This record gives sequence, structure tokens and C-alpha cells, in this order.
Amino acid sequence: MSNIVIMGLQWGDEGKGKLVDFLSNSFDAVVRFQGGHNAGHTIKSKGKTYKLSILPSGLIQNKYSVIGSGVVVDPFTLLKEIKTLQKAGINITPNNLNIADNCSLIFSFHKDLDALLENNKGEKKIGTTGRGIGPAYEDIVGRRSIRICDLMNEDVLSERLKNILYFHNILRAGLGLDKVSFNLILKEILDIKDEIISYSKDSFDITRKLSSKKNVMFEGAQGALLDVTNGTYPFVTSSHTLSSSAFVGGCTPMSSIDKTIGILKAYTTRVGSGPFPTELNDEVGNFLKLEGAEIGTVTGRDRRCGWFDAALVKKAITLSSIKSVVLTKLDVLDKMDKIKICTSYDIDGKIYDYLPNRIDLQNIVKPIYEEVAGWKSSIRNIKKIEDLPENAIKYIRKIEEICGINIDIISTGPDRSETIVVNPEVIK
Ligand code: GDP
Ligand code: IMO
Ligand code: MG
Repeated sequence: MSNIVIMGLQWGDEGKGKLVDFLSNSFDAVVRFQGGHNAGHTIKSKGKTYKLSILPSGLIQNKYSVIGSGVVVDPFTLLKEIKTLQKAGINITPNNLNIADNCSLIFSFHKDLDALLENNKGEKKIGTTGRGIGPAYEDIVGRRSIRICDLMNEDVLSERLKNILYFHNILRAGLGLDKVSFNLILKEILDIKDEIISYSKDSFDITRKLSSKKNVMFEGAQGALLDVTNGTYPFVTSSHTLSSSAFVGGCTPMSSIDKTIGILKAYTTRVGSGPFPTELNDEVGNFLKLEGAEIGTVTGRDRRCGWFDAALVKKAITLSSIKSVVLTKLDVLDKMDKIKICTSYDIDGKIYDYLPNRIDLQNIVKPIYEEVAGWKSSIRNIKKIEDLPENAIKYIRKIEEICGINIDIISTGPDRSETIVVNPEVIK
């Protein structure tokens, strides 16, 4: 076994949580490396359902888990999620959960800003999760974040809080928001700081601890197309979601990661605004939404649905050096007569095999499709690839051929047990 990154290759919600949970038994540690509680993962096993937004999915199988330096942490949500999972019987203590002490914190004033800036955009809104993620990352780059290590000394904390509120209160005055009270925020932090500190560890100690493990899984949140630089900007999240981000945010040197496994949904979904060339605003799209239960884990928003878009995915595959893929939610297509795969785009008479960055071109793309026949039978409970219906295998092979990857695992239902391992090498 080796150190691997698991990441989404679309606009998030590909089923990463299910797969990280499924694979985690083969690993010594699981590390979240970017994003925050904008992520939402549903994990089902043995009749129980777990919902995670900030905690690494490895905790469900009691794996040593790390929240790495690249994650923005809302300390209140974190403690709430820990308690909820503990009540559900999951073991979470400072022995199996460490948080890098250079993680930056999210506060209520980040959330206020997220909501206000979105509202001000009207129809042009990004459709953020409203969790304050963007403003928190802006504060990191602006060098005014409060980090977990700042909680360890009250003088430092006061100084850092004054510094960040100086900026936010100027901004808020301009935007017509009330001033944030220094004393109120300080009290809120002091109330929870000891609990947060109990899980925290110097990021370099975490690096050394991880380097003593043989098999570490780096768990990506969101998906490649939401990457702040290479995604469908500005309709993206505020972190780097590609596998290269695992080095920066996962407390690990570049040389320690051996490969990246991409998670691909058998069709496409997106929450929030932005281009979506294969979107289906018709009864087929509605069918995918209902059949795939495409409702956000965190926000409860309906997900937009469309055909599988190989042109979009190929860019993500190239940028993250992906050879091995997990195909999820194949069962959602069980009842389809015909299934379409977008292979390229027609943009004003010119053929593109990728989505260009220009927004004016993105707005006029016409997807070019290949069509395959459906299999019209249930694939849930099938345990071997050779037992899948012929047309399901043809669909899998088509995606492999167009995208230039191997589908090594197939997910045929939300439960941990509903998983077909095609290539056992991936979990050895
Ligand atoms: P993540 O953010 O990538 O972890 O994905 P989410 O958990 O937000 O969304 C995936 C949803 O699909 C969850 O409700 C899962 O329980 C569910 N799911 C995962 N894999 C499968 C699958 O193969 N088939 C079906 N029908 N549902 C799945
Ligand atoms: P997981 O890990 C799907 C989307 C939001 C919005 C954009 C910016 O569950 O796959 P943000 O709150 O991050 O500033 O919102 O990014 N988004 C996600 N969409 N799955 C996610 O995470 C997402 N995290 C953020 O809907 O369009
Ligand atoms: Mg999700």
C-alpha cells in the first residue's frame, strides 16, 4: 500500500465520503487537507447514517485522523460535529483526532460577510454554502487570520483579534453591518479554546507522525471543477481542490504521495450557480435528481443534474495525474433507456475537447454527445463486475476509453457494502 490522495473530479458530491470510509480500513491515517464545513459527506453502513462536514471520514472506522493546515475550521461547528458523532457511537478523542495548530479559524463575522456579499450579487450570486469559507480564506491571504496556535496565549489572541476586527469593522461599516464586539468574540473563543486546543498539535509534529505511518489517505473535499484557480471561476470555492493541494494543506512533503484516485459520479451534478454544459432542465434531469437523491448534505439545496461530461472531467484528470478512478452512483442510471456522454463542445462552430476559461465562450457551449443504451435492471447488490449487465459494462468501458483512465472501483449504492472492487491492487 502507499500514500494516496482521494479527490472529486467534478463539482463535488461525487461520493468521496463513502469511498474514503470504504477504503479507510486499508490505511493507517486519513488527512483532510483543504476546504472547511462547506463539505458535506453522507456515509452509510450497517443501517446507520453519518453526516460529516469538517471531520475526516476515516473517523467512522476509527482511523487516526488529521485536520491539516489547509483546512479552515469553524471551532463551534467542529465541536458540535464531534459531539454528534460521539453520541452516535463514534470514538473521537485527541488520540485519534489531531488538528494542525496552523489551521485558520472561521468566525461569525466571516459568515456575515459571505451572506451579505452573496445577497448583494443578486442574480449573479455564486450560490455559496454560506459558511464563511471565502472570507476566511481571504483573511489567510490577507495575513490577518486567527489560527489555532493563537488560542494558546491570551495576549497573542487579544492582539490577533484586535488586528482582524480592525479590518472587518471598517469593511462592515462600509457595507452597513453592525460593528463586531471585541469582548463578545473574545468571550466566545475563551469558552471553547481549551477543548479545541486539546485536539491540536503542532503541524510539524503531525508531519513527523504521518511520516512514521506506512499508508496515509489524503481526503479531498469539493471537486476539481471548484478549484479556485483551475475551476469554473468565479463559480468556485476558495481553496485549491486539486491533488497538489494535499502537499500544502495535508502537513506532508511532496515526495510522500504516491498516487491520486479520482472519484467520478456516473452523471454530473452541481450545487450553486455557474456554467454546466450538460445540465438537463427537463424530466431526465428531474429523474436523476429524484433517483440519485441529489439534495445537498450540508445546505439541503437541490443539486442541478446533467449527463456525464467527459470533456470537463478530462481536464481534471490531466491536472491531477489520475489513472485510477472510482465510478459512483452507477445504480442511479438503472432505469434509463439511453444514456449520453458529452465528449466535446461546439462553440460558435469550433470544436473544443475542453471547457475554455473565457466566460463568454462558456455561456454558448453546445455539448456534443455519444449515446449508449441503458441496461434497464437493478445493479444494486451485484458484487462482481462480470455480473453487471452487458450495457452497464459497455458504459464503464466507454468512460474509461474517452477519459483515458481505469475504473478500479464501482459504487452501486450508498451503503459501504454496495461497492465492487474491480482492481484489488487499489486496496492492497
Ligand atoms: P461527497 O461530498 O463527495 O462525500 O458526496 P455526498 O455525500 O455529499 O453526496 C453523495 C450522496 O450519494 C450521498 O447521499 C451518498 O450516500 C450517496 N451515494 C454515494 N455513493 C452512491 C452510490 O453508488 N449510489 C447511490 N445511489 N448513492 C450513493
Ligand atoms: P463536498 O466536499 C458541492 C460549492 C457551493 C458554491 C461554491 C462556493 O461535499 O463535495 P463556498 O461555500 O465553498 O464558498 O461555495 O462551491 N461547494 C460545493 N458543492 N460539494 C461541496 O463539497 C461543495 N463545497 C462548496 O455550492 O457553488
Ligand atoms: Mg458533499
